Amino acid sequence: MREGHRGTGPGIITPDGCAVELYDRLGVGPEPDIITAAVPAGATILELGSGAGRVTHPLVERGFAVTAVDESPEMLERVRGARRTVAAPIERLALGEEFDVVTLASFLIHTSDPTWVRARPMA
Ligand SMILES: C[S@@+](CC[C@H](N)C(=O)[O-])C[C@H]1O[C@@H](n2cnc3c(N)ncnc32)[C@H](O)[C@@H]1O
Repeated sequence: MREGHRGTGPGIITPDGCAVELYDRLGVGPEPDIITAAVPAGATILELGSGAGRVTHPLVERGFAVTAVDESPEMLERVRGARRTVAAPIERLALGEEFDVVTLASFLIHTSDPTWVRARPMA
C-alpha cells in the first residue's frame, strides 16, 4: 500500500487503495463526453491511472487511440481495446512518445494526505 493511502472493498486492493472489482463494475459518468468535446477526433490519449477501463472503454468506442497506464496489473487486465497498456507507476513513466491529450481521472480519492485532500475537487 502506498504511504498515506488506504482502501477496502471486494477482491484485490491496489497500492493506492482501490478495490479492483469495484472499479470494474462502476459505471462511467460524463468524462468521455467532456473529453470528446474538448479534443480533436481520433486524438492520441495518454490515460494515467486508467484503472479497469471505466473511462478508457467509452473513449476507445469513440475512436480515440488510448494508451492506458496503471501500476496495478490486475486493473489493466480488465482494459479492452486500448492501443497499449503499460503497467508502471506514473512517477517512473518513460514512454518516449508524445500524445495529443493526457488525462488523469478520479485519482486522489483514496489519499489521506491532507495536502492532497485539499487538492481534491469536492463535487
Ligand atoms: C480511483 S482509481 C480510478 C481509475 C480510473 N481512472 C477511473 O476513473 O475509473 C485510481 C487508479 O490509479 C492507479 N494509480 C494510482 N496511483 C498511481 C500511480 N502513482 N501510478 C500508476 N497508477 C496509479 C490505481 O492503481 C487505480 O487503478
